[in-house]
Amino acid sequence: MRVAMIGTGYVGLVSGACFADFGHEVTCIDKDAGKIEALKAGRMPIYEPGLDALVAANVEAGRLSFTTDTAAGIRDAEIVFIAVGTPTRRGDGHADLSYVHAAAEEVAGLIAGYTVIVTKSTVPVGTGDEVEAIIARANPRAQFDVASNPEFLREGAAIEDFKRPDRIVVGAQSQRAVAALRELYRPLFLNETPMVVTDRRTAELIKYAANAFLAIKIGFINEIADLCDAVGANVQQVARGIGLDKRIGAKFLHAGPGYGGSCFPKDTLALSKTAHRAGVPVTLVDAVIDANARRKAAMVDRIAAAAGGSVAGKVVAILGLTFKPNTDDMREAPSLVIVPGLQAMGATIRAFDPQGMGEAAKCLTGVTYCDSAWHCLEGADMAVILTEWDQFRALDLDRIAGLLKDRVLVDLRNIYALSEVRGKPLDYHSLGRPPADG
Ligand code: UGA
Repeated sequence: MRVAMIGTGYVGLVSGACFADFGHEVTCIDKDAGKIEALKAGRMPIYEPGLDALVAANVEAGRLSFTTDTAAGIRDAEIVFIAVGTPTRRGDGHADLSYVHAAAEEVAGLIAGYTVIVTKSTVPVGTGDEVEAIIARANPRAQFDVASNPEFLREGAAIEDFKRPDRIVVGAQSQRAVAALRELYRPLFLNETPMVVTDRRTAELIKYAANAFLAIKIGFINEIADLCDAVGANVQQVARGIGLDKRIGAKFLHAGPGYGGSCFPKDTLALSKTAHRAGVPVTLVDAVIDANARRKAAMVDRIAAAAGGSVAGKVVAILGLTFKPNTDDMREAPSLVIVPGLQAMGATIRAFDPQGMGEAAKCLTGVTYCDSAWHCLEGADMAVILTEWDQFRALDLDRIAGLLKDRVLVDLRNIYALSEVRGKPLDYHSLGRPPADG
């Protein structure tokens, strides 16, 4: 099939490359000429494992191309995806749909013959209706359907998630549009991937409900972790004990410093706004938004407590800055609250992140960026693991103890087993687990 993808951000680029890999002919379109030039030269605008090779192979095979020319990109396309950004609108928390509306306006004048316009961006309920109205108004003769096809990709595992999804969600008002999307995803039906076909509004809400539910799951286990600390229980064992119940499920029960990223914070807020506007407040979602913000800030006090009450005058080594591993994305990362919080208490920060330091340097000031974990630990009084990159999982703990003046290691991702730490000359602190020397 001929596919056009408007927007080469995270979702558009990964989806475009994967559709091309399925054998479709895909043109990725973006207004940002610098980005398109870089992509044409094989340089990725984001760090995502495997993406550069996937793009290169499909460009080479002639199935994937990049352009800034929307008209050329859309020519003959049977399916046009809108995958532009929907950032939080400044001031009020609603999703900013101006890019989606502008894309719809532009597409309206360019489509020829029956075309399915698909929103892949995360958009509030009713956006598909708006896109349909914009296109119908701008081009009354256009033959088209508007469908919703939300994505459930995780950064860092996006290609795997795209190619082996738990489900595909398609929201459409016409069978013809559903048939086109079925054909597009045909390679996945060979692996018996379920396809959930709904009306458009339902599909739009599924995306928000999925992210809000996962955010609540994380918020829940984070509170249970704090309770474990208070009553002397082990949160990892609680998570295993409840997660084996198939109704609960084991995933997304890792306690941490609070969720971040471009999706959960933005989407929970947008869902809350939609719900309040509809007069049906989602109080659980509101509670998790608050709890998560408080959690990030509380991590600063936790680190200070591990340091004996204060980090004033201490050199703190921070291992990991991105909101999660395998990405260079710093959006809403806990480090953005924790690092300035420690600095405000008088700490000096050294930091290392395998991929995120370029992005981090744009938003965190007064930090000494180091070129390895060991370099970061040199001369520090204490260390904090903020992101669970694989390369931090098996560090030599004796060597860490030898480098840290105060021998304090705060592990905010629980990546070390208590049995590994026990007996080491380290004052080790983690989340919701009894002290290592206990
Ligand atoms: C999330 C969803 O997982 C995807 O399904 C969805 O498609 C995507 O948002 C989106 O809407 O585009 P992502 O933000 O890439 O994906 O990352 P996650 O792996 O979900 O992690 C989000 C945050 O939750 C991270 O800060 C992570 O550290 C935290 N987390 C996750 C925990 O603290 N504990 C967990 O058990 C899991």
